[in-house]
Amino acid sequence: MVSRQSIAIDGPAGAGKSTVARELARRLGWLYIDTGAMYRAITLKALRRGLNLKDEKSLEALARESRIEMTTDPGYATRIYLDGEDVTRAIREPEVSRHVSLVARLPGVREVMVHRQREMAESKNVIMDGRDVGTVVLPDAGLKIFLTASPEARARRRQQDLQAQGHHVPLDLLIREIAERDRLDSSRPVAPLMPAPDAWVIDSSNLSVEQVVEMITARVRGRFS
Ligand code: DC
Repeated sequence: MVSRQSIAIDGPAGAGKSTVARELARRLGWLYIDTGAMYRAITLKALRRGLNLKDEKSLEALARESRIEMTTDPGYATRIYLDGEDVTRAIREPEVSRHVSLVARLPGVREVMVHRQREMAESKNVIMDGRDVGTVVLPDAGLKIFLTASPEARARRRQQDLQAQGHHVPLDLLIREIAERDRLDSSRPVAPLMPAPDAWVIDSSNLSVEQVVEMITARVRGRFS
């Protein structure tokens, strides 16, 4: 059997994980897997069906019966398909963002997702980003990164993204929201957000995406070549 290589990138929302992971995947020619998108896809389906998001049994059954696929185009943009439907945009709607943490904290749902994520990593070299990749999904990943940034830095980036979409949201409100989400993600009983003991912690508060990618690429060359 050919042994596969993997890189795990975990960290809080807004630290730049997906941008960094996608660029690294492009440079290495590896598959990029966005695990958050999988939780979002299940949340979207549950909302469409009007399911009670606290009903673990139904949500677990829903996760089991759902087909989630990801494709990467030559520009390394990822598209997500749910039962064959392209839901790339739909899973980013505010309604999904507001409810996804309820679904992601259900152990039954996580079990199904983690199993699928491991299967994906068996067939290709992968860069996977999320919250529990280095701790739970791929504990043997060749490189584990915990990418973080201060709540202020993350709120500022989020504010710029929103501004680009024509929405002005005060910075202090965004900082409070981010701090509350961090608290919930870090204190949940199942797969809480925390660095793996052997993770390389990178604080991107004062670093550009290019700088972070350069730092990681230098280490990848040493480790995987
Ligand atoms: O990274 P994101 O915002 O797309 O993640 C969506 C939600 O899923 C967020 O509440 C964190 C959760 N999540 C998780 O619990 N485990 C993962 N591996 C990835 C995301």
